[in-house]
Amino acid sequence: MTTERVPTGIPGFDKLVQGGFPKGSAVLLSGTPGTGKTLFALQYLYNGATKSKERGAYVSFEENRQELLEQASQFGWDLEKLEKEGLLSIITVTPDSIGRSTAKEILELIQEHKVQRLVIDSLTTLAVNVPTREGPSEVSGYSMANFLYRFLGTVKKMDTTTLLISQASDEGVLASDTVSAFVSTGVVHITFESLGSQYSRSLLVRKMRRTRNDEDIHPLEISAKGLVVHSIQ
Ligand SMILES: Nc1ncnc2c1ncn2[C@@H]1O[C@H](COP(=O)(O)OP(=O)(O)O)[C@@H](O)[C@H]1O
Ligand SMILES: [Mg+2]
Repeated sequence: MTTERVPTGIPGFDKLVQGGFPKGSAVLLSGTPGTGKTLFALQYLYNGATKSKERGAYVSFEENRQELLEQASQFGWDLEKLEKEGLLSIITVTPDSIGRSTAKEILELIQEHKVQRLVIDSLTTLAVNVPTREGPSEVSGYSMANFLYRFLGTVKKMDTTTLLISQASDEGVLASDTVSAFVSTGVVHITFESLGSQYSRSLLVRKMRRTRNDEDIHPLEISAKGLVVHSIQ
């Protein structure tokens, strides 16, 4: 059985994962702040909507609506136009208003709008703020894993291909919420490191189930048209 692929449309990326993310999967996109995760996610939704009329939803606990619109417009992406066409929903939730029902509300929205491409920005912020029986800030590994299994299980049944953004810390840990690495189909990691006096971004596909993924570290460029993944020959 061949796996159906969901291309990101990000130049240079899809060929690293046999054409795109496995349809219906949840992929973790991790990296420290400022690496380009939000940009990657916006480009994934924008390309889906404009190239193949796939409906997307951006759920943000990090930036407000205006910040997202402005970031996208720098690259010529008109998100408001896509909203009017019914191809995009932008949902912004402040961390202090994340409640027990937040996950359920997101799932309802996905069902109602028949969302094909979903972005959660970020899983880290959702995870530390989702209230549990023990209280809002004491999310145990167990309850977080439970929450993710239920949430992602439902998303997968709906055939939605999800990009879960995770804030990695500078200590080189893959993701602060390590549990998320176990429940996602794939992990894409972006770094921003110094090479002498120059800082540069690079991208690595850490894992991708049902995929013979490329294992090289690739230079990542922010061009005038968005992210471009390069290959060193
Ligand atoms: N138009 C642009 N040209 C070049 N670099 C940009 C542009 N816009 C943003 N950036 C860079 O991208 C970074 C933010 O990317 P973002 O996707 O928000 O990162 P993250 O979500 O990983 O924190 C900024 O810190 C800046 O360095
Ligand atoms: Mg971001």
